[in-house]
Amino acid sequence: MGQKLTRIFVHIGKVICLTLVLYCVGSVRAEERAAPKYKVDASTFRCITKMTSVKHFFVDNLAGNLAGTVDVAQAGKGQFPEGTMLQLIPNEAMVKQQKGYSPGTNDWEFFALDTDKNGTKIVSRGAEEVNNFLGLNCFECHKAARAEFDLVCEQDHGCAPLPLTRPMFHAIQHTDPRCTPEQLSEEDTAALKELGPVIEQIKNEAAANKK
Ligand code: HEC
Repeated sequence: MGQKLTRIFVHIGKVICLTLVLYCVGSVRAEERAAPKYKVDASTFRCITKMTSVKHFFVDNLAGNLAGTVDVAQAGKGQFPEGTMLQLIPNEAMVKQQKGYSPGTNDWEFFALDTDKNGTKIVSRGAEEVNNFLGLNCFECHKAARAEFDLVCEQDHGCAPLPLTRPMFHAIQHTDPRCTPEQLSEEDTAALKELGPVIEQIKNEAAANKK
């Protein structure tokens, strides 16, 4: 009986030690990430179509270097300058923080956003750990872009393609609830109709993959 109790206490002791070690490793890792230089908050984000349009997505630069960002976006390859902000849809954004912020994600900070007519809420932000509104991890998809593309996927940079067409992205951008409502084109209206089932399909696939 005594021996059994001793074993139980030793076991509990081991669990406590392990928990402490994991806790410490976790906090060291968190501290390793430098504080982001660009202080992004909800007010940083706005109606997506008010940003600068390059090809099928939107860009900005929080360091005042919009020209540098537009150059790389238009070239379709290369490393984006710090301060760059990229958005394809209202609910997701990537911001290039200072060198050393997060070497694993090329210093990109990912944002999952919630938007309505009153503005933007930041749902989550960070590096490798951020998931989008469907619970899918930003970095897991974007890390497949080849090195010269700086984690930007577009359609042919090495990421697995999304089942969303360019007209669908256009329609999503032009129904951003933060923008002044606009008259939708026939193409946008048609794309929006097709969008619902496609989003359901992505959700179901994501749920199946988690099992
Ligand atoms: C299921 C995979 C997947 C997930 C999850 C994902 N993305 Fe993407 N993302 C893509 C693909 C593929 C494209 C390119 C789409 C296109 O151009 O047709 C893209 C495009 C983008 C773009 C436009 C620039 C580019 O890379 O082409 C931004 C910005 C972006 N995503 C940010 C995010 C953020 C932030 C998250 C998380 C909150 C996220 N994405 C989650 C796959 C994903």
